[in-house]
Formats: sequence, C-alpha cells, structure tokens
Amino acid sequence: MATIGTTIVLSFSKSSSSLFLTKLTSRIHFASFSTRYHHSTRKLMSHTPARATLGLTHPTNVETPKISFSATDVDVTEWKGDILAVGVTEKDLTRDAKSRFENLILNKIDSKLGGLLAEASSEEDFSGKVGQSTILRIAGLGSKRVGLIGLGQSPSTTALFKGLGEAVVAAAKSAQASNVAIVLASSEGLSSQSKLSTAYAIASGAVLGLFEDQRFKSESKKPALRSIDIIGLGTGPELEKKLKYAGDVSSGIIFGRELVNSPANVLTPGVLAEEASKVASTYSDVFTAKILDAEQCKELKMGSYLGVAAASANPPHFIHLCYKPPSGPVNVKLALVGKGLTFDSGGYNIKTGPGCSIELMKFDMGGSAAVLGAAKALGQIKPLGVEVHFIVAACENMISGTGMRPGDVVTASNGKTIEVNNTDAEGRLTLADALVYACNQGVEKIVDLATLTGACVVALGPSIAGVFSPNDELVKEVLEASEVSGEKLWRLPLEESYWESMKSGVADMVNTGGRQGGSITAALFLKQFVDEKVQWMHIDMAGPVWNDKKRSATGFGIATLVEWVLKNAS
Ligand code: BES
Ligand code: MN
Ligand code: ZN
Repeated sequence: MATIGTTIVLSFSKSSSSLFLTKLTSRIHFASFSTRYHHSTRKLMSHTPARATLGLTHPTNVETPKISFSATDVDVTEWKGDILAVGVTEKDLTRDAKSRFENLILNKIDSKLGGLLAEASSEEDFSGKVGQSTILRIAGLGSKRVGLIGLGQSPSTTALFKGLGEAVVAAAKSAQASNVAIVLASSEGLSSQSKLSTAYAIASGAVLGLFEDQRFKSESKKPALRSIDIIGLGTGPELEKKLKYAGDVSSGIIFGRELVNSPANVLTPGVLAEEASKVASTYSDVFTAKILDAEQCKELKMGSYLGVAAASANPPHFIHLCYKPPSGPVNVKLALVGKGLTFDSGGYNIKTGPGCSIELMKFDMGGSAAVLGAAKALGQIKPLGVEVHFIVAACENMISGTGMRPGDVVTASNGKTIEVNNTDAEGRLTLADALVYACNQGVEKIVDLATLTGACVVALGPSIAGVFSPNDELVKEVLEASEVSGEKLWRLPLEESYWESMKSGVADMVNTGGRQGGSITAALFLKQFVDEKVQWMHIDMAGPVWNDKKRSATGFGIATLVEWVLKNAS
C-alpha cells in the first residue's frame, strides 16, 4: 500500500498502551469493552447487601474485536480490500456530455470499471441524497466492492459525516467485510481544520454504528470488520490526535449507552454507583469518588431526594466523582449533574395508559449516563486547567407503604419545602438536592441533564433536547459545543410568570404546575435550588435519550459535555 506521510502506529488496549514505529501509515485501534456488572457490592459498599439479581440476569462480557483506523493518502484505485466507500454529494454526480462523471475521483474509479458506476447509479436512481447508498460487487479495482454513499447537497455538519461512518459500517456488516476504505468524492477543497473534524465525525460514526449491545443476548454475533482506512483527509500527528479523541469520546458514549440499555433489575442505584466508582478507579490519576448512602444523605438534609427513594427495596446512592487535572493549576470549576432514576414507575401517580411508556423507564437515568460517560471520556483525555464534579442522586421511583403519598410535604437540603402534588414529577425532586450539593462544591458553572418531562418530547420531538438557562454566555458555550458534537439542542424560555402555577397553599411550592408549558415549569422548579451566583443550564433530554427505531439508547449528551469541558480547559 502506497502511503504518504506519517509513520507512527498508535495501538492501545484496555490493559496496555504501546507505541510502535513502522514504515506504513498512521493506524489507531479503537476497542470497546462491554460493561459487566458485578453484584458483589459488599466490598465497596458495606451497606448494600449482596443479593442475586431479580430474574437471575447477568450481563455477559462480550469482547468486541478491535477496530483500527488509519489515515492514508493512497490512490483510491490502488486500495486493496473489501469495500471502497465514496461519500458523494448530489453535485458530485454531475455528468459530462458523454455521461461520464465530472468529479475527478468518481471519474478515475469509473474509468477502471468501464462506466459501470455511472450506469448503475442511473439505473438505481442514485442521486446522492442523504440516506441513499448503493454497493456494487466489481472486478477491475483493488477493492472487491465499491459503494456510493449519499451526503445530500453540501455536507458540512458533524451529524452528516457521522451518518457516513454509520452507513459504511452498515454496508460492511451486510457484506461481511473485514476491511473498508472511506473517501470523499470532493475533499480537496476542505481546510485542514475541516479535514480534521470530518475525520473525527466519520470515525465516531463508524465506531458507534458498529456497536451492538449484546450483553443480554444468550448468543452473540461477532462483527467481521477489522480496519477502516480514511483516504484523502490527511495524515500526521494532528489527525492521529483527532482520531484518538474520537476513540475516547466514543468509548464514553458506548459506556453511556450500556448504562441506559441495562434493565432496571440489573442496573440498580447501587450498581450505578459501583460503575461510577469503577470509572474513578480506572482513571485514578485524575478522579476521586465519593458515594453517600441514605444515612449520609439524611445528615445532609436531602429530604426531597430521600422522599423519592423512600418506597424502594433498592437503596439510594448519591454519586460524586471529582476530576482534577494531572498537573498545573485549576482555572475554572464546573459541575455536571445528571438525573439518575434507574426506574420511574411514577410512584402513587403510577404511569398508566397508552403512551406512558412505563416499560421504557429504565432510561430515566439517561442524564446520569451522560454525566458518567463524559467522565469516562475525560479520564482518558485528561484536560488541564479545569476541575469537574460529576453528581448523581441515584434512586428508583417505586410504590410501597413506605413511599411518598401525593400531597406529602418534603424539605430539600436548602431548607425549601415542597408539596408533592404528583409523585411522577420525581426527577426534579432528586435534582433539587443534587443541585444544592453541586453549588456547595464552589463551582462557577453547572450543567444538568435529565429525562425530565414528556412535555419536552411533545414540544421538540424525539431527537432534540430542550435547553433552559438564565445565562446567555453559558448557553452560547454549550450550543457551540453541540455544533461540534453534532447533537441537537434548542433553547426554550425560562418564563418567570409561569411560576404562578407552582405556588402551594401549604409549602413553599408544589412540584408540578399544569399541563401547559410543562418543561418550562419543571426548569423553573430546578432554578429554586441553584445559587444565583452560579451559572446554570438545564438540558431536558427526554426525547433524544432513546432511539425507538433501533430500540436502543443513544448516548446523547456525552459528546457535547466533553466538548464543553474542553472549551473551558486550558
Ligand atoms: N421520566 C419522566 C419524563 C419522561 C416521560 C421521559 C416520557 C421520557 C418519556 C418524568 O419523571 C415524568 O414522569 N414527568 C412527568 C411530569 C408531570 C407529572 C408533570 C411527565 O412528563 O408526564
Ligand atoms: Mn416521573
Ligand atoms: Zn422520571
């Protein structure tokens, strides 16, 4: 294989990290490891009795084979492997008078194929639209197959190039391919900065597209794909760094997806706390972990959180990880707070009726998965100049004689009293005490993430998260980060006049207003527990936490949080 440029092969695995020098190309190995939960919680948390999982279910440890990425400048017609995938825009498909491609790369490939590609793409009505793809088995090239993947009119967003990576691995899966190459029909025009971000997006999309959570299947299938060559986006240390970054963020996202996919009988609050502790011990050079039990939360007067947890046989665990840079001073302190309801039955206001999705409420810890997934990624990236607190008040919302009744009054750790007029608005009750705790850490900025309201899904649909904040600067920072990450966020107003509906006859406030503006009143409720001197943003991710079509968690929020923390780093 003819390659130009760099000579470093980076290879890292779970246990070792090694650096070799070869003459070939820059190659980076990504490995994702499935999360196994050990129910031997006794050692870590003496207050948690070790007991068998309800239903005898244990996740199996599925070792996913390593996939390696390499950036090369090889001539596409000389590349040897199973699939050569070309990302094409609608414009790239323009033909000349003789019906040949005007685009240089397509023209070059097709002249080796005697015009087959042009013919096939007309016959199949392939016009380069997003979501379109066509794969042909061919002879005449070094590659066994050539694929055209549609990128639409003029792709420039992370989301589109992530989609390209995903489409290529989907094609590789169905062709049982073990090595593929990805090239853009037109990449010459790109600045070196956009080449880097394009490579990042393609690599992330590929790794995440390849991931299938098989831990709860009795049999697992092994993907054949081993290597992906990215052609034409440059080579060298900067690109390698970017690919490593894609690998670090993706491993955080996969961890987050596994947490959310785990059923509530397996992922209890105790197991979530144990997973958080494992992140801290894996990256013990930068993390410390503190897990508080119910008794310790009582000492901190977290009555709002403990009220929600009161009906459960599985006890609550308050999780606090702290990231400190490996060297140098700390210039800014941040907190990431995640809603961590390992199951939300609704409590006495039980979720009934069609559309309430009670059977999906294992995903109600999606905010905490975002926070812990970001922690895992940052443990690998190790940014300087920034201290980050990761905070989750984890518990279940269940029903029993010891549980909260509708109408009960609870007292939060800042002394404010809450009349619980709906036990199904439990997320905000847990976040109240988590936010007070976060403010007590002396942080300047807090971002909280929560699957907080069905109303937000009604407002923005399944793939966009709602953003609420009184601080325009912080909104700007996070929205910029989300543009880089390719995740969709939309700001909604914190309309103070709606607080009227949250007044209580007996306590300082109720926990739910009316049906109207339900995500706004939820955000206004959270605001009561945030110190005015602290910049704060709330992200309602009730829609994007879950992908209905894939029946799987998305890992939403992690890529944006990591980007945002790095923006604050020095
Ligand atoms: N976890 C739910 C929110 C939710 C609902 C997320 C559907 C994803 C899909 C939350 O705890 C909840 O039950 N919220 C209530 C609030 C209401 C009682 C004011 C809701 O949205 O119905
Ligand atoms: Mn609820
Ligand atoms: Zn909930």
